[in-house]
Amino acid sequence: GTPASKSKQMVTLNIDGFDVTVPEGTSIMRAAAQIGINVPKLCATDSLDAFGSCRLCLVEIEGRNGTPASCTTPVAAGIKVHTQTGRLKQLRRGVMELYISDHPLDCLTCAANGDCELQDMAGAVGLRDVRYEAVETHFQAKNTSGEANPQWLPKDDSNPYFSYDPSKCIVCNRCVRACEEVQGTFALTIEGRGWDSRVKAGGANDTFLTSDCVSCGACVQACPTATLIEKSVIDIGTPDKSIVTTCAYCGVGCQFKAE
Ligand code: FES
Repeated sequence: GTPASKSKQMVTLNIDGFDVTVPEGTSIMRAAAQIGINVPKLCATDSLDAFGSCRLCLVEIEGRNGTPASCTTPVAAGIKVHTQTGRLKQLRRGVMELYISDHPLDCLTCAANGDCELQDMAGAVGLRDVRYEAVETHFQAKNTSGEANPQWLPKDDSNPYFSYDPSKCIVCNRCVRACEEVQGTFALTIEGRGWDSRVKAGGANDTFLTSDCVSCGACVQACPTATLIEKSVIDIGTPDKSIVTTCAYCGVGCQFKAE
């Protein structure tokens, strides 16, 4: 869920009735995972700094107000955390319903079908119906008079290795963080606000190819949907197996996945 803490100081807390002891600075999400409780999540990963944007990982802490995000809330000695109350389940279904209301409903023909965290989380939170009409403004280009154009924004296929489809982006920021934290490149940003926010490579007139992107693939690895996806996966599907190997070019020891 979130990166490990390096602290030697240990803290014991209680999650859903079970005591767990973890290093100080560990997130509640990670502590829960340690005892087999997987809190629903979309924007947190084991390797990227927690960001707290998707609001799926909400929990309740006895004696505290509100429903904090478990990925950005550190453990504290003696706290009692609940991850599965009726209120939390309802909140998570509501959040997921909003994501799905603004997402193409083409799972059966989508290249990420069966390997999509949005799909997995919709199932995990028990989403059955979406009550909202498709807003159809999120990723649509506006024409010159400012009216919504009834097309999803076009894909950016300029990179030879992967494709970017803005209609499937949930703005979890994982690609932007991976670009910065894994690759040390700052090729990606989030532009716009609210429904209009989306991932952008480079400046206004850039594509992925003309931006500072170095095609390392960290963003593709980080993407939880089919927004950033390898062209080979689009063409021939998800590989049956993969192996992680270490690059031999220098002594840094970067690992990559071979399929
Ligand atoms: Fe915690 Fe997204 S996983 S807010």
